[in-house]
Amino acid sequence: MWPLTIILLTNILLAMSQIHKIVLKERETLIERELKMMVGYSIELSATELVANEIIMDLKRKEIDYGFWNPKYYHLLKHFFEYKELVKDTKLYKILKSMPKGAVLHGHDTGMLGPDYVLELTYCDDLWICFKEDQSDVNFVFAKHRPTGWCATKWERAMDIRRTTNATEFDAKLRKFFTLVVVNPQEVYTDLDTVWDYFMKYFIRTGPLFTYKPVWEKYYYDTLFALREDNVMYFEIRTVLPPLYDLEGNIYNSVDTAKSYKRVTEKFKKDYPDFFGAKLIYAPVRSVARETLKNYIKVAKEIHKLMPDFLAGFDLVSQEDLGKPLKEFYPDLAKSGLNLYFHAGETNWYGTSTDENLFDAVLLGTKRIGHAFALVKHPLLMKEVKKRKIALEVNVISNVVLKLVDDVRNHPLATYLSQNMPVVLSSDDPGVWEAEILTHDFYVAFMGVSSRHADLKMLKQLALNSLYYSSYGEKHKLVREFQIRWMKFIGSILKMK
Ligand SMILES: *[C@@H]1O[C@H](CO)[C@@H](O)[C@H](O)[C@H]1NC(C)=O
Ligand SMILES: [Zn+2]
Repeated sequence: MWPLTIILLTNILLAMSQIHKIVLKERETLIERELKMMVGYSIELSATELVANEIIMDLKRKEIDYGFWNPKYYHLLKHFFEYKELVKDTKLYKILKSMPKGAVLHGHDTGMLGPDYVLELTYCDDLWICFKEDQSDVNFVFAKHRPTGWCATKWERAMDIRRTTNATEFDAKLRKFFTLVVVNPQEVYTDLDTVWDYFMKYFIRTGPLFTYKPVWEKYYYDTLFALREDNVMYFEIRTVLPPLYDLEGNIYNSVDTAKSYKRVTEKFKKDYPDFFGAKLIYAPVRSVARETLKNYIKVAKEIHKLMPDFLAGFDLVSQEDLGKPLKEFYPDLAKSGLNLYFHAGETNWYGTSTDENLFDAVLLGTKRIGHAFALVKHPLLMKEVKKRKIALEVNVISNVVLKLVDDVRNHPLATYLSQNMPVVLSSDDPGVWEAEILTHDFYVAFMGVSSRHADLKMLKQLALNSLYYSSYGEKHKLVREFQIRWMKFIGSILKMK
């Protein structure tokens, strides 16, 4: 009796282990097949890249696995404001900073540099300041003499205030007007509309500070410098092309502003020949009447005629939920003949007109989509976007700060990456939330959003995508230079070992 039972039992166990093996094999195959659908899967790493990859992946896994077991202490599960400085000390952040990241294809001109930089601008001569009675806001203007413009209290020279009061305290007070960063974001920014209100006020408040022509040109030059420092080689800048002014009472129109951009770009390229320059995307505000839009298009066409290589195309900006849906501007946009780069789907309102802007953007032939946050809810459109090679300009940190998503692990970028959608990473308005000009966005995407398995192949593909989907004329030159810098970067990682 006993021997029989033992034989039976052994057979059952053998059969079970056989089944177990088959299932395990199948599991492995499925996971492997799925990983091969990811952004970057087709890249083959060289022997040296494989070594660098191991170093990077060791660091990545260590950080993620620590987070998995200690979620309470994991940076990326907190608000960006809480960890943005802390992560700068990590090895991975430093690697990503030194990594050639390609191009920034989605950045707004006056949101690129942080509050410390803006504060420095308030040291320029001839700046006048006027505080609201309750000190809750401030106006700026450059002028030779005391401005006559509206002011709730009294115009004073910034220089005089610094001389007559405590300058350290004054600077600390001013700096708060140049950033969205606060210690308690969840309490101050209770909902999306509230944070957008603060965000828009930043642009309105800083407008007269930045549009003083010498400051405008300096800010832009220094933006290009910051991009280059962050290992970015090319920039497509979104701008509302505001009128600029000077102390002589001249007002320059949008076309002049575009010319000034071109001049500064050329100057910068001359000073730093290793930078590949920049192009404009004219992106005025979307909450306007059709007549105004027609006027925008006229301006865009004029600029295009004057500098066909410098103007990349056209877009519309500001809070999408409150703006006009794209479909209201259909005829004018469709026959504009301009290249289009629409913001679309920057919303959580599924099935609304904002959400459906995604369809309009695609049908109007947009070259790329800014944010495309809501695209993940549209399976058919996702296929269409992939087929038509429309790049998604994803700005994860922007979406966190502007309250589309709290936990970065839930950002739709995860889905886009998993299905090899044409993604480019960008930073939107990094200065306003005190992020580095691009590295923070790569860090958060790589450590917080992408799979634990996503590696150097994905990073390389994301950088390459930003070149492929740019409107730069001679892309092969960009890519060739990128490859040279990439090899140097890989070499520098190997030295870390
Ligand atoms: C100015 O204010 C700062 C901060 O409150 C303080 O540390 C400093 O001593 C003050 N300086 C003067 C000259 O009063
Ligand atoms: Zn944007």
